[in-house]
Amino acid sequence: MGWMSHPGWVMVSFLTELLSTSSRGIAQGMENCANDTTIINALLKETYNKHYIPSHPTRVRVDMWVQEVTSVSELTQDFEIDLYINEFWEDPALVFSDMNPCKNNISFDDKVLQRLWIPNTCFINSKSAAIHESPFRNVFLMVFSNGTLWTNYRMKLTGPCDMRLKRFPFDKQRCYLTFESFNYNTGEVRMQWNAPYPVILLKNIELPDFKLINYSVIAVEQMYPAGWWDELTVAFVFQRRYGWYILQGYIPTMVTIVISWISFYLGPRAIPARTMLGVNSLLAMTFQFGNIIRNLPRVSYVKAIDVWMLSGMLFIFLSLLELAVVGFMSRNDGLPPRVKKRKRHEEDDEGFSWKSMQTSPHLELRQFWVDKRVNSLRNSSDVVPPPPIEEYTPMEMEAPYPHISKRREKKRWFSSIRKRWRSIEIRPETVDFYSAIFFPTAYMLFNISYWGFYLTNLSEYFDDEMAAEQAGETQETLFF
Ligand SMILES: *[C@@H]1O[C@H](CO)[C@@H](O)[C@H](O)[C@H]1NC(C)=O
Ligand SMILES: *[C@@H]1O[C@H](CO)[C@@H](O)[C@H](O)[C@H]1NC(C)=O
Ligand SMILES: *[C@@H]1O[C@H](CO)[C@@H](O)[C@H](O)[C@H]1NC(C)=O
Ligand SMILES: *[C@@H]1O[C@H](CO)[C@@H](O)[C@H](O)[C@H]1NC(C)=O
Repeated sequence: MGWMSHPGWVMVSFLTELLSTSSRGIAQGMENCANDTTIINALLKETYNKHYIPSHPTRVRVDMWVQEVTSVSELTQDFEIDLYINEFWEDPALVFSDMNPCKNNISFDDKVLQRLWIPNTCFINSKSAAIHESPFRNVFLMVFSNGTLWTNYRMKLTGPCDMRLKRFPFDKQRCYLTFESFNYNTGEVRMQWNAPYPVILLKNIELPDFKLINYSVIAVEQMYPAGWWDELTVAFVFQRRYGWYILQGYIPTMVTIVISWISFYLGPRAIPARTMLGVNSLLAMTFQFGNIIRNLPRVSYVKAIDVWMLSGMLFIFLSLLELAVVGFMSRNDGLPPRVKKRKRHEEDDEGFSWKSMQTSPHLELRQFWVDKRVNSLRNSSDVVPPPPIEEYTPMEMEAPYPHISKRREKKRWFSSIRKRWRSIEIRPETVDFYSAIFFPTAYMLFNISYWGFYLTNLSEYFDDEMAAEQAGETQETLFF
C-alpha cells in the first residue's frame, strides 16, 4: 500500500475524482437514479401495513372538478353529475426522497393504490355512484417524495335534489352531495375542503332546462352511534330556464283568455257561438295545464304555474258566467213582463216623440206608432192596441212651445235619469260593454301582481324562509 501514497498516484487519483464530480449530473441521472419499480417495491415491502393509519388523525384534503351535469329531474328528485374527486393526505411510510429518485413524484394506477392505506371515502347520499371503468378503472395515484399522496377518481353520480316547486317554473333547485370517510371517525381521519378552490367547474354547466348558477361547500361534524364523522357537503344551485314554459304554457293560455273575451263583442243573440267559445277556451286551458304538470311530481302545495292556470280558468269561468247572465236577460225579451215594461217605456218616451214631431207631427207620429205595433206584434202574439192619439197630441204639441213650465222640465230630467239607470240595469248589451272593460283590466292587474311577485325577490324570501324551517327539521332528525 506504500506506493499508493506516492505523490504521483495521489495526483492521478485527485484528477479522476475531479472529472467524475464534474460529470456527476449526467452520470447519476442515467445510472444511479432509482427507477419507479424499485422505489415502490422498496416502499411496499413487508413492513408496510395497509391497515395502519398513517397518523392520528390523518388530515385528508378534498376538492372536486365538475365535468358535466347530465340531468336534473323533478320526478325522481335527483341529478346526474360527472366529476373528478381529488384527495390529498400524508403517509410518512411512503417518503422516498432518501432513495435518490431524481424526481419528486411518481404516478401509479389502481393496482398500486389497492396496496396502500386509503381513507375509504364515499358519497354517502348518492343514489348511485360508479367509477368510470372504460377502458380501465379511471383512478389516478401520485406519490410525492415527501410522502404526500394524491388520488383522483373519475365518477358518475346520482345525487338527491331538494325539489321545492312553490315557484315553479321560476324556481331554483338545490342538489347536494355529501362526502365522508366511511370507516374512520374524527379521531382517525379529519376531512376538510381544499382551500382556496374546493370546487372547480371545468366548463359552464348548462342543461336544456337548467343552468348551474352557484355552488357552496360546507364541512360539518355529524354524530353517529359510532362517534363523530366529518361530512363535506357541496350544494349545487340550479336555476330553471323558464323560456320553454313561457312559450308553451304562459303565452298560449294568455291567448286563450283573450279569445274568450271575443264573446263580449258578439252580442246577446249569439248565445250558441259564445257558449262554444267559452267552453272551448276552458277545454284548451285544461289541456295546456295538463301538458305542463304531467312531468311534475304530485306535490300538494300551490305552484306558481297552478296560480297562473287556475286564475286563467277562473277568468274563463267568469266570462261564461257573464254569458249566463246575458243569456238570461235576452231570454226575457218578448215575455209578458217585458211587454208591460216596454209599454211604460213608450209613455215615458217623450223626448223621442218630441223630436220626431218637430218636422211634420202627424205623419211622423203615425209612423212611430206603426213601428211600435210591429215590434210588439213580433214580440208577443197579443196585439197591443196603441193608445189613442188624442191623448197624446196635446202633450206632444205643447213641447215645441218655448214656455214650458219648470216643473215639467224637472220631471223630464228625472225620468231621463231613471230611464238611463234602468237601461244600465237591464240591457244585456250594457253587461257586455262593461265586461269588455272589466275583464281585460282585471286580467292586467292580475298579470302585474303575478309577475311582480314571482320574478322578484319577494317570492324567494318566502321560499328561503321555508327552506330554513325544513333544514332545521332535518338537523333535528339526524341528531335524533
Ligand atoms: C428498474 O430497475 C430494475 C432493477 O433494478 C430493472 O429490472 C427494471 O427493468 C428497471 N425498470 C425500468 C423501467 O427501467
Ligand atoms: C411531478 O414531477 C415532474 C418531474 O418529474 C414535474 O414536471 C411535475 O410538475 C411534478 N408534478 C407535481 C404535481 O408536482
Ligand atoms: C410535498 O410536496 C408536494 C409537492 O411539492 C407539496 O404540495 C406538499 O405540500 C408537500 N408536503 C409536505 C408535507 O411538505
Ligand atoms: C353564491 O353563493 C354564495 C354563498 O352562498 C353567495 O355569497 C353568492 O352571492 C352567490 N352568488 C350568486 C351569483 O348567487
